[in-house]
Amino acid sequence: MTFRVTRRDALRLAAAMPAVLALGKPAFADPLVIKFSHVVSPDAPKGKAALLFKQLAEKYTDGKVTVEVYPNSSLYKDKEELEALQLGSVQLLAPSISKFGPLGVKEFDVFDLPFLMSDQTHARAMMASPMMDEFNKKLGDKGVTPLAYWDNGAHVYTANKPLIMPEDFQGMKMRIQGSKVLDAVARQLGAIPQIIAFGELYQALQTGVVDGEDNVPSNIWTQKFYDVQKYLTVSHHGRLTYSLITNKTFWDGLPADVRPGLTRAVAESTQFFDDTAAKDNVDALDQIKATGKVEIHVLTDTEKQAWITALMPVHKEMEGRFGKDFIEAVYKASGFVPPQS
Ligand code: LMR
Repeated sequence: MTFRVTRRDALRLAAAMPAVLALGKPAFADPLVIKFSHVVSPDAPKGKAALLFKQLAEKYTDGKVTVEVYPNSSLYKDKEELEALQLGSVQLLAPSISKFGPLGVKEFDVFDLPFLMSDQTHARAMMASPMMDEFNKKLGDKGVTPLAYWDNGAHVYTANKPLIMPEDFQGMKMRIQGSKVLDAVARQLGAIPQIIAFGELYQALQTGVVDGEDNVPSNIWTQKFYDVQKYLTVSHHGRLTYSLITNKTFWDGLPADVRPGLTRAVAESTQFFDDTAAKDNVDALDQIKATGKVEIHVLTDTEKQAWITALMPVHKEMEGRFGKDFIEAVYKASGFVPPQS
């Protein structure tokens, strides 16, 4: 009888190997290996923070831990990495919270409501609010422990035609990260949403599988999207927030002599991330401009008002998905006041 080894079996086996290999060897001999997988380039804010985490974790645990960083989707792509974390084949990720839907925690999609998280103060107030305990508990129920939230700033749109007014999106194929709210936003603008893994986005833009996308300037710069997109609109309609997550069993099972060092490394790389992202996203817009390849448009107040009028109905539409009370609780926790549309 032939056994068909499924990908899940392979992931499970890979997860069990370190324990199997450790059998018969004194446990203290080999450092604990933490695999940190992510989808951006090493010189993007998350790439830099992951490398700093590696340095600090190895230093603060006196070498009892080794961190292997896998950038640019080199180990797992977007969706795969969450499954791999739940199975214990990888120990650390920092994905966008807009990609948590497949984990079965749809509540995180609420953060993609248009303009809710545009303002840094609102975004950081939300991530620091007690309401996050509810979100974190839901992740915990899925075997995932969030260690920190990393703020990578507000989104801008890119495309191969100017996107100045909402009607400019009509019929455009727009790449989205995955949340149901991002899907609704694209549809509300008359565009056709398409989920594409980040690692495949450059090619999808280059070949015209999609016409445009939204992202933070540091990703557009480090992934060279400016080579395949001629226009950029500074719209700040949404935000890119990461969650530094680990496997709950792995983290709860950490030896007592390494946890304090790892916790300190998480705190310091989080501060580093927020500072670096704030600077790199400003620099990246200047760097993109300096290429002369992209026409950059900052929405005027009148244009912004037109976007607000066009997009605020998504908040109403999503009451069906999250409940009015839940959305209002998020408004309260973040300090966001829905603009009059
Ligand atoms: C995206 O998919 O556009 C981003 O979430 C990628 C990333 O991790 O910054």
